Amino acid sequence: MQQYIDLEDIDNVDALIEKAIKLKENPFQFKEVGKNKTIGLLFFNSSLRTRLSTQKAAQNLGMEVMTMNLNSDSWGLEFEDGSVMDAGTAEHIKEAAAVISQYVDIIALRAFPTLTDKTKDEEEQVIKSFQKYASVPILNMESATAHPLQALTDAITISENKQKERPKVVLTWAPHPKALPHAVPNSFAKMMQMIDVDFVITHPEGYELNPEITGNTPIIYDQNKALKDADFVYAKNWSSYKDYGQIKSTDKSWMVTLEKIQQAKFMHCLPVRRNMIVADEVLDSNQSLVIQQANNRTYAAQAILKEILENHL
Ligand code: CP
Repeated sequence: MQQYIDLEDIDNVDALIEKAIKLKENPFQFKEVGKNKTIGLLFFNSSLRTRLSTQKAAQNLGMEVMTMNLNSDSWGLEFEDGSVMDAGTAEHIKEAAAVISQYVDIIALRAFPTLTDKTKDEEEQVIKSFQKYASVPILNMESATAHPLQALTDAITISENKQKERPKVVLTWAPHPKALPHAVPNSFAKMMQMIDVDFVITHPEGYELNPEITGNTPIIYDQNKALKDADFVYAKNWSSYKDYGQIKSTDKSWMVTLEKIQQAKFMHCLPVRRNMIVADEVLDSNQSLVIQQANNRTYAAQAILKEILENHL
């Protein structure tokens, strides 16, 4: 693996899931792989799980870790080519990416979308610019349109918990007071098409994700019908893709409850708004996998970092 920008960078997803589960059994087995290597974790946006789990993953492999909150701790970065930098930005990505590449062996990035300019968000300017001007591999820690570390984590968690060869997995939209990105549902939908599951998406009309990503996945507007016989229910809010970034519904009847999911396991990437996305009774029950999911973030990141370290550096 040369980089981990999106799920297309995975050669064999089933093998990668197996490797991550093995790493979880013995996390310090490959402590030499990252010796004398450094990862730079660069955040344009907030994080709890991604920051700590990626740091832990790197440390488990013997790497050094440098972390920077680029919006608050560094110079304002300019991404436009040929721009006259007479306003708020003080340093161009051309210099910044080249300089950072001299300090670290892998650059990991988190950069959320604007949710106001679909074209610009889909260009993935931050990730693409670092790819262009950095001389080291890039790791996506959630970009405008994708969260591939989360999706790998989710696939690992389903693999660990499935009771049948081909479980039914339902991605359900749930209400949220703020407009949220599409990165998590996009990557989850893509991942579910890569592994052997019976995958269904449910959301109110008007919340269709990018059809190029959902492909042939069945979309059922009746949540109860979609959830019938589910083995795993993955809840997530996202804003409208068609009416880009808008909140079209805050219908609380879409909140996930125990009555709705029956015996199914509950999944969410976290952070989650209790009694908005999902009822306390679900999160506090033994059907909830959210803590296990968050733990698996470490081993997903560790499996990816190990591939990059062994095959590229
Ligand atoms: N799931 C996830 O990416 O969590 P953080 O935003 O806290 O990193």
